[in-house]
Amino acid sequence: MTTRSTHNARTLAAKYYLSEDIYQQESEHIFEKSWLCIGSSASVSEPGSWFRVELEGESIIVNRDQEGTLHAFYNVCSHRGTRLCSEESGRFSKYIVCPYHAWSYGLDGSLAAAPHMDDVPCFNRDELSLVKIAFKEWEGQIWVNFAENPEPFEQALAPLIGKFTRWRIPELKPVHKTVYEVDANWKLILQNYSECYHCPALHPQLNRLTPFRDASNDLDEGKVLGGPMHLSKNAHSMTMSGQVCGTPLGDLAGKDLRDVHYYVIFPCMFLSLMPDYALVHRIARLGPTRSRVECEWLFQPDAVAAENFDPSDAIEFWDVTNRQDWAISIESQRGIASRAYRPAPYSNLESMIAALDRTYLKEIGDSTATP
Ligand code: FES
Ligand code: FE
Repeated sequence: MTTRSTHNARTLAAKYYLSEDIYQQESEHIFEKSWLCIGSSASVSEPGSWFRVELEGESIIVNRDQEGTLHAFYNVCSHRGTRLCSEESGRFSKYIVCPYHAWSYGLDGSLAAAPHMDDVPCFNRDELSLVKIAFKEWEGQIWVNFAENPEPFEQALAPLIGKFTRWRIPELKPVHKTVYEVDANWKLILQNYSECYHCPALHPQLNRLTPFRDASNDLDEGKVLGGPMHLSKNAHSMTMSGQVCGTPLGDLAGKDLRDVHYYVIFPCMFLSLMPDYALVHRIARLGPTRSRVECEWLFQPDAVAAENFDPSDAIEFWDVTNRQDWAISIESQRGIASRAYRPAPYSNLESMIAALDRTYLKEIGDSTATP
């Protein structure tokens, strides 16, 4: 096991988990300029298919046009602002039609038709396209950025580039998604994922498969943090049975099949790579003390196509683990709200949380706090 010293870092002050002012600062300094993962591009694989995401008080539509190009727009009609899509997902035929007065947009967002508007002097079709949001497809995942001129994805999240190629994640098929709402600040969810100090007490089923001391971090500073954990002798994947329920991902073989990999991608995604499937968690803020976590399971297409394919062993394993983690995060949130709470030392097994807190404080621009 390799762990870094935390250099006597302590947990963050209570205000970071409770304060409306801090929440607003996070909006301005982090969430309005970071790349935020919102879904798998495989969920809009067909021409015309779309999904809607609610994020940071905005509603976003992602769709694929007839030529196969992805687009991301604010879900706001250019006429009087009405939401265009209220369902979670669907398939456009040729146009996106506003339900109010039937203005119609092409799948590239351009205004195609607006009934009875041509004789209005100030009406200029070219100025009334849907408003685009910056987006990026990386490893089959779609990311958006609310900034008008965002830092390029490759620069903002440089450690990701090329790191996961051999897992061939873009080929994977999402087979299941569960959405959880958790009464806890988003950072408690990130911190919980960032250490396995809690695994013996909280996750006996997980600790049997990957003993908490067999963990290391190959990225230990910055916005991408994490590393591998070794599977115990009789374990082959993170499932209730400990056996695989898919086929090996990408080019994995031999020794690679003995590891699982866990990464936090600040501020909103966890990427977990098992020998036979991948798991993506997407974390969104709903308020200072409430978060939404979307968890998606992805498998190799040949495994999904097999007649006896059954991912329930993996789905149940993470659903159990997720619920254990969310329940303890809620208890942390409750305790932090007490007048008795005060910052306390992290253990060396929590060195990744200390790194995460450093990244957070740097991003939020708080030089007064030093974890
Ligand atoms: Fe959309 Fe009028 S608000 S067409
Ligand atoms: Fe956990």
